[in-house]
Amino acid sequence: MSPKWLGKCPDCGEWNTLAEEKKETRQGRKSSGRSEPQPLNTIVSGKEKRTTTGIKEFDRVLGGGVVAGSVILVGGDPGIGKSTVLIQALSGLSKKYESVLYVSGEESPEQIKLRAERLSVDSGKILLLAETSLENIIDTASKLKPGAIVIDSIQTMYTEEILSAPGSVSQVRECAARLMFFAKKSAIPVFLVGHVTKEGAIAGPRVLEHIVDTVLYFEGDRGHSYRILRTVKNRFGSTNEIGVFEMTDSGLSEIENPSELFLSERPLNVSGSTVVASMEGTRPLMVEIQALASPTTFGMPRRTSIGVDFNRVNLLTAVLEKKAGLHLGGMDIFINVVGGLKIIEPAIDLGIIMTIASSLKDIPIDPKIFMFGEVGLSGEIRAVAYAEQRIKEAAKIGFKKALMSRTNSERLTAVEPFGLEIMGAGNVEEALESIGI
Ligand code: TYD
Ligand code: MG
Repeated sequence: MSPKWLGKCPDCGEWNTLAEEKKETRQGRKSSGRSEPQPLNTIVSGKEKRTTTGIKEFDRVLGGGVVAGSVILVGGDPGIGKSTVLIQALSGLSKKYESVLYVSGEESPEQIKLRAERLSVDSGKILLLAETSLENIIDTASKLKPGAIVIDSIQTMYTEEILSAPGSVSQVRECAARLMFFAKKSAIPVFLVGHVTKEGAIAGPRVLEHIVDTVLYFEGDRGHSYRILRTVKNRFGSTNEIGVFEMTDSGLSEIENPSELFLSERPLNVSGSTVVASMEGTRPLMVEIQALASPTTFGMPRRTSIGVDFNRVNLLTAVLEKKAGLHLGGMDIFINVVGGLKIIEPAIDLGIIMTIASSLKDIPIDPKIFMFGEVGLSGEIRAVAYAEQRIKEAAKIGFKKALMSRTNSERLTAVEPFGLEIMGAGNVEEALESIGI
């Protein structure tokens, strides 16, 4: 809180992130009586009621369907596909209810109809409402009692109780809180669309994360057609789930086997490329990592990374130099995770190190090998979790050899390694030797 304008936020150090909030006087809100403390074991819990949308990847990120009375925030950059996925989900839900309600403050019913036609969603049970007044929306919804509501977007809605403009932090928060109250009272699930914004003037979805039950973020870049829906928070399921979709001419289609998609254009038998088994939540994902090491033409060597943390690449390069004796001082190094994915898991360290070495020495890595393992500063390779799931996924799409930490490989001998040859390495040198670099 600051009483005057500040260019730089004294808390987080970011520039131009402070937004004005008018001080509101609250009259409308009354306390709804006092509640008494009660012992935990006397509270009767009902199992939450879930409805599936029929879109498997969407149900998965929600933890197995939409929970009655929950509020789900779907955030993402403008144009990424939020409206598209929600109209598809509504269409699935409409099969199970009398009606479902799509409230748009951004597009006219005609525009939404055009989109629905593209998606071949044509249901008389989907009701469209072009409205931005929260009072009117809640009023309509209370009378209509739809099976689910989509608010597209929360940043265009306003409540008369607050004076600030739609999209301001206080409006967005208040509208979301009122919708949350409505959802709980009526047991109708509400989806909120939130655009990610760069400026502080329009409140982004982050200001709502603590209010709502579930937060999903849409990721993906414009250069690629696939989209990832990621669970960031879920009061009714696990976080870190992902759903993978592809944006096609007729809307988003599910991708049930993303590993195949990400490896579909992999070049075989070239240096500087390998496949790592990464985990996205509870889901294994095989991705290709590419490295290019080329002599620096002038000045300082450059290090560039796309899809993995830049500092991590620097650190791994130093380990490779010091522990495996490779000369990388005069080399520019570029690292790329193919497909525009972003991976934060340290289990891809081994893959990064091996591809850099492969590119430097111009020796291809066997395309039937995949790897996973964390690399420490003394060059040791550390065990990571979910080794079995990673191996199973790799076996499913035809890999033959797995390179991992010695600890992981020893633990694995007790279980069925899915017909793969398991190679364990204690440190970077051993790992390089085992793949012939
Ligand atoms: P949209 O859902 O409107 O994005 P958001 O609500 O997140 O702003 O999606 C917009 C983009 O998706 C638009 O650039 C066009 C593209 N698109 C398709 O490629 N195929 C389709 O069937 C649809 C409906 C949209
Ligand atoms: Mg939209």
